[in-house]
Amino acid sequence: MFSILNVVCLSLWAFLGVAASTNLGPASVNLGTAANFAILAETGVSTVPQSSITGDVGLSPFGANNFTGFSLTLDSSGTFATSSQVTGHLLAASYTAPTPATLETAVSDMQAAYSDAASRVSPDFSELGGGAIGGLVLTPGLYKWTTGVSVGPADVTISGTSSDIFIFQIDGTLNITSQSSVTLAGGVLASNVIWVVAGVVTANPGTHVEGVILAQASVTLLTGATMNGNILAQNFVALQAVSVHIFIRLFLILLSLVGHPWCRRTC
Ligand SMILES: *[C@@H]1O[C@H](CO)[C@@H](O)[C@H](O)[C@H]1NC(C)=O
Ligand SMILES: *[C@@H]1O[C@H](CO)[C@@H](O)[C@H](O)[C@H]1NC(C)=O
Repeated sequence: MFSILNVVCLSLWAFLGVAASTNLGPASVNLGTAANFAILAETGVSTVPQSSITGDVGLSPFGANNFTGFSLTLDSSGTFATSSQVTGHLLAASYTAPTPATLETAVSDMQAAYSDAASRVSPDFSELGGGAIGGLVLTPGLYKWTTGVSVGPADVTISGTSSDIFIFQIDGTLNITSQSSVTLAGGVLASNVIWVVAGVVTANPGTHVEGVILAQASVTLLTGATMNGNILAQNFVALQAVSVHIFIRLFLILLSLVGHPWCRRTC
């Protein structure tokens, strides 16, 4: 039986193989410990149930009172909470040590990553499509818009290999039009797709987004939106019955599969 696990193992070996070769596009952006969070925000994270989040959710400097809609259960250690909507932990600056320090470092790493990504110069593509990028196929590179950007009504395809890097610098807002998607092609990894956005980010109902959103303002995902990646916002994150999955977790699961005796035999 050529199982899904087999495919997973093969793609992982392919990924490890090409990781050493030179990438196309700019140098990667170091997220530091912010990469450990599916969602990291500074002023609040809200959900209108039922959302589904895989990965940890962090909030700092505001405290747990600014988690809204999660029906939190505080762990007896006092260092984190859980929620039926989160496969992972919720951490807030108001929780017991070492959580505040962990979050302070993660937020500082998030801000540094934003500054790095936003300050890259000499874009390969400037003002592409006048900010209307629905229907385009984007190749590796540094992209710069001094305006807002909208995805849709046709999907946007991000095309390249697993080692290629994409940085999208957006001075205005990022809007994903209802029912439109950002899709990856050719083995591109969501962790190599960086959206660095100065204005608010809105994923409208039924949309799909891939990548790391480094937002200077807030990020809102409306009903039925799905996201593969991290939302790292310097203001708040608002979710309405959405699904957010962090790829780093999946990657760690894949690594553990490769280490598994069954996989060593068959991969
Ligand atoms: C965070 O909580 C404060 C009150 O403690 C409130 O004024 C503020 O609006 C909240 N912000 C968010 C984004 O929820
Ligand atoms: C995104 O939507 C907001 C309102 O929802 C609007 O003010 C803004 O101009 C839109 N931006 C783009 C680039 O479409």
